[in-house]
Amino acid sequence: MPLTPTARILRTAERDGFAAGAFNVIQLEHAEAILAGAQQAKAPVILQISENAVRYHGGLAPIAAAVRAAARACPTQAALHLDHATGFELIQEAAACGFGSVMFDGSTLPWEENVAATREITDWCHDRGLLVEAELGEIGGKDGAHTPGVRTDPGEAAAFVAATGVDALAVAVGSSHAMTVREAALDLPLIEALRAAVPVPLVLHGSSGVPDATMAAAVTAGMRKVNISTHLNRLYTEAVREALAADPALVDPRRWLGPARDAVAAEVARLLGVLAP
Ligand code: G3H
Ligand code: ZN
Repeated sequence: MPLTPTARILRTAERDGFAAGAFNVIQLEHAEAILAGAQQAKAPVILQISENAVRYHGGLAPIAAAVRAAARACPTQAALHLDHATGFELIQEAAACGFGSVMFDGSTLPWEENVAATREITDWCHDRGLLVEAELGEIGGKDGAHTPGVRTDPGEAAAFVAATGVDALAVAVGSSHAMTVREAALDLPLIEALRAAVPVPLVLHGSSGVPDATMAAAVTAGMRKVNISTHLNRLYTEAVREALAADPALVDPRRWLGPARDAVAAEVARLLGVLAP
């Protein structure tokens, strides 16, 4: 089926009280695994490609075309999202590649600059039917540049959404990017306060470090998009290590990427259940 607009998935999430799982794609196998997991869970899913992944591949178009084709071949609703973009050019390219949404990450900019840049990008994206997610309040851990104690103020969040016109907001509530242990504590009362103050869906970043029960509680408190990457990569790489260690004579990549893809598919299916408490 054709790609599903991210906006439609978030609307359904809002209506039915679940959070859309948004999982990062680096290789084609990630996309295949995420789609297989979504199919297994019978849940819509958001496939996201980050600016960092684009840098790794040296361009957006080839990986985007592959992911898009995989999503279109899947009977489950799947959206394509550009994650953590800091530049207008990449956002324009994503629009040309058929993405349904983009995240503009101006969180390291001073307030005025973040508002101005986000407003400009949002207007441009809205003219082309794209949903825009933005960030206010740095989420801990990203590239080692932020600290985990950061929190988004509900009043500032509401003012930011009103000033920029964004459709979804990433907020800092205790999670931290790239955690390899699942022991983050979230500020659930803050999520509830943000939900009451902000008229658009809330997005939880750095969810790899959030335990299942806390993740479910965050959804109940109002999170509507949950981004997970490192946790899946940890399982992926563990499966690769295991396969290679079990047979040092292996040369066919399908023999060690296959188990990694299976491990991620199973975990995506499980996590989508957690996100629909
Ligand atoms: O935007 C992507 C995410 O926030 C993923 O963070 O790698 O800590 O799960 P994570
Ligand atoms: Zn993130």
